[in-house]
Amino acid sequence: MENPSEQNIDLSYERHGSGSPLVLIHGFPLDLSIWDSVVPLLENDFDLIVPDLRGFGESSTVETPYTMLDFANDIVGLLDFLGVEKAAFAGHSMGGYVALAFAKEYPNRVSGLALVSSQAAADAPERKAGRYKTARDVLEKGVNVVAEAMEPKLSADEKVREFTNLLMKAQSKAGVIGALKAMAEREDSTPVLSQFSFPVLLIHGDADALIPIDRAKEIKSALPAARLIKLKKAGHMPMLEFPKETAEALKLLK
Ligand code: MLT
Repeated sequence: MENPSEQNIDLSYERHGSGSPLVLIHGFPLDLSIWDSVVPLLENDFDLIVPDLRGFGESSTVETPYTMLDFANDIVGLLDFLGVEKAAFAGHSMGGYVALAFAKEYPNRVSGLALVSSQAAADAPERKAGRYKTARDVLEKGVNVVAEAMEPKLSADEKVREFTNLLMKAQSKAGVIGALKAMAEREDSTPVLSQFSFPVLLIHGDADALIPIDRAKEIKSALPAARLIKLKKAGHMPMLEFPKETAEALKLLK
């Protein structure tokens, strides 16, 4: 299903179940199918809205630069199109950066926020420079560069690594480059955390090799009211590695 969002981006999305609205936002460089195992476990509790971010899956891809707020505005367009005023948001990794941008800009439309394997901090200067170098490599050599570099860090589970490897390789160059630059330019969201008046969950694997659980602990220090749910032995992809535990944690957003 497609819809015209505010910025003339066609967002592809799925909608499942019934209950209070919950938007599931995938990470980089993936698409909505990462949520496939948790959707059946959540659809009795939530009206699940599961988009492909711009540049990924079957959503439109644009060549002009964009930001985390642009990703968030695409989702506002989708929610308006669906007539959903307020929702809870669960963002995986880069999806968490998008959810944070959404929550900063549209706090009144957020009933709860789950950051899954994500962080609030901006990139350190060397990480930022690395993103631009990766973007140049992707332009020259293709998206496989990113897939090969990321795959070993995503999970200890071979099946999960195989699945995500294929998914990463299926994404478009322009989408991967656009997201790398948007991530490089994102702001530190830590200062705004204390202004959030909705519940915040931090769902993080204690074996995450890409974004260590220390990043979630930093959020907890800045926002003591946040609830940290540590998933034992989970890597960066808990919704694929431990779908039941991840779904149970997300149900706290009800
Ligand atoms: C992700 O998993 O979405 C990204 O790798 C996050 C990042 O690179 O900061």
